[in-house]
Amino acid sequence: MKILVTGGMGYIGSHTCVELLNANHEVVVVDNLCNAQASVKDRVEKITGKSIVFEQVDIRDRLGLEAVFRKYPIDAVIHFAGLKAVGESVEQPLRYYDNNVSGSVVLFETMGKYGVKTIVFSSSATVYGDPASVPIREDFPLSATNPYGRSKLMIEDILRDLHKAEPDWQIALLRYFNPVGAHESGLIGEEPSGIPNNLVPYIAQVATGVREKLNVYGGDYPTPDGTGMRDYIHVVDLAIGHVKTLDKLATRPGIVTYNLGTGRGNSVLEMVRAFEQASGRKIPYQIVDRRPGDIAKCYADPSRARDELGWTAERDIAQMCADVWHYQTTPK
Ligand code: NAD
Ligand code: WQD
Repeated sequence: MKILVTGGMGYIGSHTCVELLNANHEVVVVDNLCNAQASVKDRVEKITGKSIVFEQVDIRDRLGLEAVFRKYPIDAVIHFAGLKAVGESVEQPLRYYDNNVSGSVVLFETMGKYGVKTIVFSSSATVYGDPASVPIREDFPLSATNPYGRSKLMIEDILRDLHKAEPDWQIALLRYFNPVGAHESGLIGEEPSGIPNNLVPYIAQVATGVREKLNVYGGDYPTPDGTGMRDYIHVVDLAIGHVKTLDKLATRPGIVTYNLGTGRGNSVLEMVRAFEQASGRKIPYQIVDRRPGDIAKCYADPSRARDELGWTAERDIAQMCADVWHYQTTPK
């Protein structure tokens, strides 16, 4: 199939392009490069030995997007394009709603206009808010605690409404837990600009000496070692989950929702130890106050994806940290 990947030059998108090419799909990427580099195209092509099409287009640019749909016979869309920093979304809510929500509406309208009605959407475990218990199942109540999370929930709602109105759409809502890791080649990975918000990119910068020490947000959570627990999932496992989801949508199931996680929770200190092991470097840290908005534990019940997609995450945290370290230390 010919797959349009929005945000395909970004972290999860680039790994998904690799897995799509490995599965013999053709790939057209649209990305405005607000959080990615054009050189990712060459790196994806180097890894796979196959070529992809890249169009520098903002998904809010209706005419630009229409030109892409006119130029290429797209069969399905995987929609990664979006802004994702929680703190920034609190400071700049309109920018987040415009980019994420308005951009998605333009994309869905354009798809409808050109008769493309199959879409995989990047949602997030953030749509579960502060869950009453773990592991989290897809039928748990949904809520949002910040504009970023609300933008994801709004887009999910829009797609649910769209499917009600036009049942011939094939829609997958994929709720990612905490994606980390990098491609084993060391050529693509996560490259946060500025101070990383997320744990593993921050730890990686402590390991390379860019940052002095890690602030561990909270040592008094009701968890075995007092630090927050998350479901860290290797980005390559996540990418493979998208290919399996496209296969599922080809069976015309209507609208489907899947958690993509490992089903395991690891604490901040377990991640620190795993990264020390992988890098051979000491990660100095100090326990500081809890970060506002954080929850104690968040991990998936991934059994629906296992049963319906035949997908399970295979790579463990040792592999995730080893691949991040390899990416950090590979000359680009
Ligand atoms: P990323 O920033 O690396 O990738 C997003 C890409 O979209 C970037 O290449 C950026 O340039 C592009 N983009 C942003 N706005 C655009 C627009 N208006 N038009 C065209 N391109 C645009 O982020 P990522 O980590 O790869 O995340 C991909 C998707 O997955 C996002 O929608 C994010 O919300 C979602 N998600 C990410 C995580 C995570 O922790 N990384 C977790 C859950 C969900
Ligand atoms: C993980 C753990 C922190 C940084 C966020 C978004 C979520 C999703 C994934 C997109 C927590 C602790 C972190 C640090 C720390 N993104 N931590 N020191 O908060 O689970 O999820 O990214 O959809 O929406 O909210 O991920 O990597 O920020 O934090 O102690 O410097 O590490 O408190 O327990 P989080 P994270």
